[in-house]
Amino acid sequence: MGGRLAGKVALVTGGAGGIGAAIVRAFVSQGARVVIADRAEDAGHRLQAELCEMARFLRLDVTRSEQWADVVAETVETFGALDILVNNAGTVHALKPVDKVTDAEWDMVLSVGLTGAFYGTRAAVAPMRARGGGAIINMASIMGLHGANGSVGYCAAKSGLRGLTKAAAADLGRHGIRVNAILPGLIDAGMGKGLEYNLRQVPIRRAGLPEEVAAMAVFLASEEASYTTAGEFTVDGGDAGARVLG
Ligand SMILES: NC(=O)c1ccc[n+]([C@@H]2O[C@H](COP(=O)([O-])OP(=O)(O)OC[C@H]3O[C@@H](n4cnc5c(N)ncnc54)[C@H](O)[C@@H]3O)[C@@H](O)[C@H]2O)c1
Repeated sequence: MGGRLAGKVALVTGGAGGIGAAIVRAFVSQGARVVIADRAEDAGHRLQAELCEMARFLRLDVTRSEQWADVVAETVETFGALDILVNNAGTVHALKPVDKVTDAEWDMVLSVGLTGAFYGTRAAVAPMRARGGGAIINMASIMGLHGANGSVGYCAAKSGLRGLTKAAAADLGRHGIRVNAILPGLIDAGMGKGLEYNLRQVPIRRAGLPEEVAAMAVFLASEEASYTTAGEFTVDGGDAGARVLG
């Protein structure tokens, strides 16, 4: 138990499982109180029970603009503030080439992964300004840096998140609100679990752990990152930056 986030209040979307749950646990271990905001009620309630009074589960579908206002208001009511927002919820469509992706698949992936983060960012500004600042972290992916076959919706959402991050950082820096993106590679959790992947091309020849992504989130959320905004931080074992040729 450390105190790098002591006294802070965080909201983590998609916080009930996978990488999001690792971030929730890491934030609590550093002294933050955390709202687990997710559609998954059973998993959300279980994590709340594990973390006792340091966490509260609130049901949120990030694609529903009106639910954001309620969840942010309830966060402030419950814990007194909102200092940190992690836009972590994301989803994929089935692997298929661009000409086979349906309207519904495209809309779902973009609305959860990109529009939801916009709604969240917009909703967080007023409470963060009331505190004199804050930190917003968007969970992008190295698939927002390079394309990948069968994944047009996901690559577009993650690439879009990078743009949202930089534009919001430009708007909000004057208010003390920092906005950064984390770009994980293959992580052994959630949607990355059991995925077929050529790990021989990754310099650190293994998948990442959700705790390794959470460690980056703790840093970006903390005062240690006080001069860091509009940044992109890979947690990918070197996958996007280097290739192992043989
Ligand atoms: N696992 C990986 O290898 C990997 C790699 C790069 C980026 N990411 C990103 O990390 C984030 C977390 O992914 P994960 O691997 O933990 O997968 P996951 O599927 O376990 O987590 C996604 C969470 O988001 C929630 N969610 C989905 N739609 C939602 C909605 N409309 N409203 C609220 N919550 C919703 C789910 O219930 C789930 O708890 C995602 O943005 C994903 O794109 C994951």
